Amino acid sequence: MNWQRRQWLIRSAGAAAAIGIPSLGATVAAGGAVDVHVELHAEPGEVALRPGRPTRVWRYRGELARGEAKALTSSAGGYLGPIIRVRRGQRVRIDLINELPEPTIIHWHGLHLPDTMDGHPRFAVAPGGRFEYEFTVSNRAGSYWFHPHPHGRTGAQVYAGLAGLFLVSDDEEAALGLPSGAQDLPLVIQDRNFDADNQLVYPGGAAAPRRGRGMMGGGTMGGGGMMGRGGMMGGGGMGSMMAGMMGVLGDQIVVNGSTESGRDVERRAYRLRLLNGSNSRTLKLAWSDRTPLTVIGNDGGLLAAPLQRDHVMLAPAERIDLWVDYGRWAPGTELTLRSLAFEGGIDMGGMMGDMMGGSAALADGAAFAVHRFKVGRGAARNESLPQRLSTIESAQPRFAVNYARPKVFELTMGMMVWGINGRGFDMLEASELETVKLGTQEIWEFRNEGRGAMMGMVMPHSMHVHGLQFRVIERSVSRRFADEYDTVKAGLVDDGWKDTVLVMPGERVRILLRFADHPGLFLYHCHMLEHEDSGLMRNYRVVA
Ligand code: C2O
Ligand code: CU
Repeated sequence: MNWQRRQWLIRSAGAAAAIGIPSLGATVAAGGAVDVHVELHAEPGEVALRPGRPTRVWRYRGELARGEAKALTSSAGGYLGPIIRVRRGQRVRIDLINELPEPTIIHWHGLHLPDTMDGHPRFAVAPGGRFEYEFTVSNRAGSYWFHPHPHGRTGAQVYAGLAGLFLVSDDEEAALGLPSGAQDLPLVIQDRNFDADNQLVYPGGAAAPRRGRGMMGGGTMGGGGMMGRGGMMGGGGMGSMMAGMMGVLGDQIVVNGSTESGRDVERRAYRLRLLNGSNSRTLKLAWSDRTPLTVIGNDGGLLAAPLQRDHVMLAPAERIDLWVDYGRWAPGTELTLRSLAFEGGIDMGGMMGDMMGGSAALADGAAFAVHRFKVGRGAARNESLPQRLSTIESAQPRFAVNYARPKVFELTMGMMVWGINGRGFDMLEASELETVKLGTQEIWEFRNEGRGAMMGMVMPHSMHVHGLQFRVIERSVSRRFADEYDTVKAGLVDDGWKDTVLVMPGERVRILLRFADHPGLFLYHCHMLEHEDSGLMRNYRVVA
């Protein structure tokens, strides 16, 4: 089928879906008061990240059209998009204005929204177009985020700089008196490759060849940088195909869109909201002096009670909230948040590395410094953390309609493309297995056993389900991978509500999902964006 016609069909199907559920569309509520209204421009820009030439990026620029000033904070210096701050229950309108030279759409990662507001790739808008979101925030307080989701181009667009935080607060959280203001510190961790001219290098392969102008090598980000020519690999062929399958890893760590290697902190308590915003790199985070981490929240908000961990795993798109009292360290201490070595990461070595033209300089699973904290000289404040944070009902798998027979979703590779149960992405299709009933709970099992993998190559995946928060109820790993798994298992935080879960090689992970409130078509996929873009993504359909 001709590409334009197919696009047209997809769009009209999207529009029909929107009309089919009238109470959920933005148009119906238009005219009603919104608490916060933000205009988000997705646009090319330049940022001074390193000495010398500025770096060409794509980024979100926000303008607050309505709401309190604190609802929108633009990023200081880096390329990252603004932070949107809302309270649970608020009505929010966001207008995406696409000033990029290619289609895009925004997904609100972790939010529980009608499918027409969720940023499914079928709603991608053309250059010059806009998409108006309007929804009520029903999520618990927590660190959610937003990023592009056009099919086949999510990896490239996020890599170019498009991502931002969406922080929700609520009364339960406010009552705890957690660190706020400058002590509520989000840290979005990403990895990038820069060329000698300070330009981002992304292998050309994340998308299938597109027609039309300027999509891949046409100079949208400028000649030799971002989109192909002259980069680590050419704009096509085996190298990019392999990168598309394996995942892009950078050797420069970027925090909040900036290459600054650290910051000063006062001798008092902070809340660090960590998001792994990397395209494909998994983190194993720990303090350099091996002080345990105090975990207070993750993807879906606060945990019931704080947890102590020597290290925490953070796969792409996962979040973790830490409480840290820098007063416990001596004045002037330099402390580093590190990523420790682990086994079972994306393996770029050997033949794969050669095919990709040299492999990544910083391997997945290698150790490196993430961010330095220089502790101030003032008196310590001795702050304390409440030992009860939140109410989290216990997961009740036996109420799942398929309790006796969990649905199995195998992460597969065949003919050099990713898939789930052997199927790649189809814009509007969901199979019978992928059809669920509104108001029910189900158990799903993600299996990562390398079915169809070339040369027995099995790598981690970061499985994300749109539109809801789920519970992780069970993990098991095959004996063959047990030693690798031992290097990560103590760092998995499966408590509380999750929207993304790391599935290590040889592992089976069972999750409990509840399909509430919103019928329609939603995605589930691997959040290693090059996997997602090359087929490790499918729809599920919620039917009334
Ligand atoms: Cu954050 Cu479909 O993804
Ligand atoms: Cu994956």
